[in-house]
Amino acid sequence: MIEIRQEDILEQKETENVVREAFWNVYTPGCCEHFLVHKIRRCHAFVHQLNLVALSSGMIVGHVINIKSYIEGDDGSCHEILCLGPISVLPQFQRQGVGSALIAKTKQIAVSCRLQSHHPLRRSFFLCRTRFLSRREIPHP
Ligand SMILES: CC(C)(COP(=O)(O)OP(=O)(O)OC[C@H]1O[C@@H](n2cnc3c(N)ncnc32)[C@H](O)[C@@H]1OP(=O)(O)O)[C@@H](O)C(=O)NCCC(=O)NCCS
Repeated sequence: MIEIRQEDILEQKETENVVREAFWNVYTPGCCEHFLVHKIRRCHAFVHQLNLVALSSGMIVGHVINIKSYIEGDDGSCHEILCLGPISVLPQFQRQGVGSALIAKTKQIAVSCRLQSHHPLRRSFFLCRTRFLSRREIPHP
């Protein structure tokens, strides 16, 4: 049974260990996504309500984090969006629906908290690899 809820501040270290385990040696030797999560929590664009952990028997086995961003149209218009990621599931819990459940919960909360508007572009979710997040936009604490 998987429970999904907002991350508690006391769980940050445990969460970052999960992120590191999920990404370790997957895209590059080692990984930096756990550090990225650490930084995103201090970013002005960080969305607290969408910083979610997945628990199995009280243990964190998955995590997802979101930031607010925007797409600039050619006409100068600005469309607010949510950027989802990094999303992480411990290797031994992967392919069991945990990642899908984290994304489904993100969508549900985003809609109920009106974090997405009814404009189709603004309803877009961007499942992004961390390289899409400009590190220049993540201020040092
Ligand atoms: C990607 C990740 C979060 C998916 O979590 P998960 O709990 O394994 O996902 P689910 O079991 O809900 O799978 C849902 C679907 O996602 C797809 N999927 C899952 N892992 C995948 C992977 N590594 N590559 C490609 N597709 C994948 C599959 O289509 C899967 O459906 P299936 O039943 O046909 O296999 C997890 O594998 C993970 O932590 N990977 C390492 C970190 C990472 O790459 N994060 C994403 C970039 S931010």
